[in-house]
Amino acid sequence: MTALTLSTSAASGLRADAIVVGVAKGAQGPVVAPGAEAVDKAYDGRLADVLQTLGASGAEGEVTKLPAPSGFKAPVVVAVGLGALPEKDEAHTAESLRRAAGAAARALAGSKKAAFALPLADPADAGAVGEGALLGAYSFDAYKENGSAKGGKAAGNGKAPLAEIVLLGAKPRDKAYKAAVERAVAVTEELNRARDLINTPPNDLTPEAFAAVAQAAAKEHGIKVQVLDEKALAKGGYGGILGVGAGSAAAPRLVKLSYTSSKAKKHLALVGKGITYDSGGISLKPAGHNETMKCDMSGAAAVFAAVVAAARLGLEVNVTGWLALAENMPSGSATRPGDVLRMYSGKTVEVLNTDAEGRLVLADALWTASEEKPDAIVDVATLTGAMVLALGNRTFGVMANDDAFRTAIVEAAEEVGEDSWPMPLPAHLRKGMDSPTADIANMGERMGGGLVAGLFLQEFVGEGITWAHLDIAGPAFNEQGPFGYTPKGGTGSAVRTLVRLAELTAAGDLG
Ligand code: BES
Ligand code: MN
Ligand code: ZN
Repeated sequence: MTALTLSTSAASGLRADAIVVGVAKGAQGPVVAPGAEAVDKAYDGRLADVLQTLGASGAEGEVTKLPAPSGFKAPVVVAVGLGALPEKDEAHTAESLRRAAGAAARALAGSKKAAFALPLADPADAGAVGEGALLGAYSFDAYKENGSAKGGKAAGNGKAPLAEIVLLGAKPRDKAYKAAVERAVAVTEELNRARDLINTPPNDLTPEAFAAVAQAAAKEHGIKVQVLDEKALAKGGYGGILGVGAGSAAAPRLVKLSYTSSKAKKHLALVGKGITYDSGGISLKPAGHNETMKCDMSGAAAVFAAVVAAARLGLEVNVTGWLALAENMPSGSATRPGDVLRMYSGKTVEVLNTDAEGRLVLADALWTASEEKPDAIVDVATLTGAMVLALGNRTFGVMANDDAFRTAIVEAAEEVGEDSWPMPLPAHLRKGMDSPTADIANMGERMGGGLVAGLFLQEFVGEGITWAHLDIAGPAFNEQGPFGYTPKGGTGSAVRTLVRLAELTAAGDLG
């Protein structure tokens, strides 16, 4: 795990492998960002010229390495692009700092220690740089012959992540700076753990294995945990979760994580889709559509990470996390298209397509979560390919039964640097799910498939409870190259938004 410390040392005297500075894209070329004044001075004030000569522009994510000025203990200066120069009197946004720090940390994989001299206007900026750097310094190498998990040096990209990050320009003894950095450490450690879970191959991360990880973490952080195994699920009448898990040799689980604060006035429930592998079931996915389906538990991973982060931060709110874990496989015992399931709520569902399984496990979890009458429920799921078609690979869709709540979530996401967009729940799409046999079918019109799925979920939310649904099918898993602080593979999408929602609920500003 990468360490993060604050230092008031001068950049020149710091024993490190590199000093990271920011460079913005000005109209006339690169502009050295605040925080790097001393470094620039050591280049006789010519750092911007040197960078321009080297072809740097300050564009977002651009990384330029140059020899450090004489007298510096660190051998290398890494100039990282922050993107467009802010208007006069304005500072770089937290997200541009996060991305730049992430890009620099990725470029420094294989190095031990780097000092970041990026522009810090306030404690929140220090948190953003810390977050970006810690998220950029991630690699998943547990399955590499010489990976760090086996005591070796090789990582996913052949290099171990940057081991030590020093933030320059933050005030180590200032409470607000300390709190911002502690928050960054807690949130990113849990987010990176969510990434690990997503990246873990599905032959190892079964529902049972995921539940065991949750149990261990809950114990460590004073969170109450309850695991319903297949017997308890049968006894409780959880037809949705059992129906989805019926085809797999690895039995399903429903995990409840309860973080409580003695000062809590509000209760937030988080529900995560945890399909450890989605083959589609009897409605089998064709090759080309199933290679990344280990990511189908990203919602549950995000919920898990957010509950643990809330506990580590001691937020003054009760947060209950529900992980609906099952593996969707075809077999002689699998649910067939045409089967009717009796759900935990008592409603019956005709399964027309076994690949629309996420809504089935979520329906049971949403109804259970509703029984506690929380102030709000937010579910997170890699639910539909339709949402990916609509919003692309970096934006999640937000649906809700309350417009103000939906807006608050989109704004919270924006605040923490996650891209999201409000989506409607058009009532007319409900009748496409009418079933001649059961109360509802698990499929409706193909057009607007993401919204149809949202409408299905809404049927399983308890009367009068504020609810929102985040469809993270696009951003949960990055199949393209890494960018900013986002690696290839599991991204940890929605974790930061959920943590922010818990904070806002604690402050009485939500739900
Ligand atoms: N897990 C998939 C959705 C998905 C697609 C996640 C792409 C990540 C990337 C989900 O279970 C699914 O298969 N949905 C179907 C629903 C359809 C059968 C109504 C879909 O979107 O095609
Ligand atoms: Mn599916
Ligand atoms: Zn799925």
